[in-house]
Amino acid sequence: MSTDDKKMKANINDEIYGRAESSSGLPKNNFPSSEDNPRAIYTAIHDELMLDGNSRQNLATFCQTWEEPEVHKLMDECIDKNMVDKDEYPQTAEIEARCIRMLADLWNSPATGEHAVGTSTTGSSEAAMLGGMAMKRRWEAKRKAEGKPIDKPNMISGPVQVCWHKFTRYWDVEHREIPMENGRLLMTPEEVLKRCDENTIGVVPTLGVTFTGQFEPVKAVSDALDKFQEETGIDIPIHVDGASGGFLAPFCAPELEWDFRLQRVKSINSSGHKFGLSPLGVGWALWREPQDLPEDLVFWVNYLGGNMCDIALNFSRPGGQVVCQYYNFLRLGREGYTKIHGACYETAQFLAAEIEKLGPFEIIFNGQKNNGIPALCWKMKDEVDDGFSLFDFADRLRTRGWQVPAYSLPANCQDQAIQRILVRHGVSRDLAVLLLKDMEAALAYLAKHPLQKLLTSEEASGFHH
Ligand SMILES: Cc1ncc(COP(=O)(O)O)c(C=O)c1O
Repeated sequence: MSTDDKKMKANINDEIYGRAESSSGLPKNNFPSSEDNPRAIYTAIHDELMLDGNSRQNLATFCQTWEEPEVHKLMDECIDKNMVDKDEYPQTAEIEARCIRMLADLWNSPATGEHAVGTSTTGSSEAAMLGGMAMKRRWEAKRKAEGKPIDKPNMISGPVQVCWHKFTRYWDVEHREIPMENGRLLMTPEEVLKRCDENTIGVVPTLGVTFTGQFEPVKAVSDALDKFQEETGIDIPIHVDGASGGFLAPFCAPELEWDFRLQRVKSINSSGHKFGLSPLGVGWALWREPQDLPEDLVFWVNYLGGNMCDIALNFSRPGGQVVCQYYNFLRLGREGYTKIHGACYETAQFLAAEIEKLGPFEIIFNGQKNNGIPALCWKMKDEVDDGFSLFDFADRLRTRGWQVPAYSLPANCQDQAIQRILVRHGVSRDLAVLLLKDMEAALAYLAKHPLQKLLTSEEASGFHH
């Protein structure tokens, strides 16, 4: 055997942690020149990912961290499905169309069945972008027809998720964001009306504000805009950011009017991968009726002799998430979604009541299903100085693997820090009780070991929008 052959034999038979690379490390910067053993490379990457922490204990995320085995199987089977290739994968395209029709039904659209208008996306951010673009185009078309200028569009929202800052910045729209003030953490009809004018392309209430979890009052805002139209003649549409609430209110607060039951709601976005219970990578944008989606945003593609519309911003994207969304719709139906989310709401309220009893905290939102999503948030009581900040508390909980984000509120409440828990699919009552025990232990530790200097939001690692 030549020296090279001997070396190769040793490499093939090396136990994974006995390989030379185990003591020298794997390439990090330069593109590797040769092939390597798949098992060894898999193990190395698998090991590195351990440092990401345990997603089930990540109580910051709104997204799915638990899926049924059937979802894993379908994701595996769909690894080769490209959502954009409607001609090559007509059944995946058909499944997407069925989901859109089911969502039109769920959100009470007047355009049902084959008239339902919408698209799957990679998430709510892309769906919000599409909803925003449609609002802008509709406004431009109306203004042009009236011979009026289109150089100063504005959009009104409450304290929104960053995707709306991106929309207004990317598409040159003035963002009239209603700041939080004096304990008011949401949009109100009065604050909306103060900002409306003939250049307003639309109002965007959020059903489940990212910072606190609360629902903004879509119906009250819609009623106020009806009155505004009567008085001024200006007709301002609503796009609802239902990233979380779009898959919660229909099941747990069906009497709440926030969707296409309101004439003024022209489009809705929601995240399939949040309370839609699908794996990461799917969102939805739906329009009320075909005329609400401007023709020039639609690309028509021929498929199986038919005409299919392509509205999304991305070209290639995975089809598995859409297929699994359909699986969840069929598997759970209204009954299953109501049970799963109902349990989450109850656990959120249980946690809120127990966390209040811990002493230093004041609950801001306690997960009431008519007012918000199954989440809770709290702040430190104003009058007490316990010698620690919420950032210290979050840091302490991390030692047990829990990620319970503490963060500062946006304008004009930047001085107010709050902490938030998302109770989602898989956050069981038992897990919640274990978390409470760790919270008690963290408070006992902080009482026994007073901190020299409190952690601030800048110094704390972790959650930022
Ligand atoms: C209200 C709201 N809108 C939009 C988004 C963005 O959604 P996605 O992560 O699906 O793009 C989020 C994400 O948390 C959100 O809470």
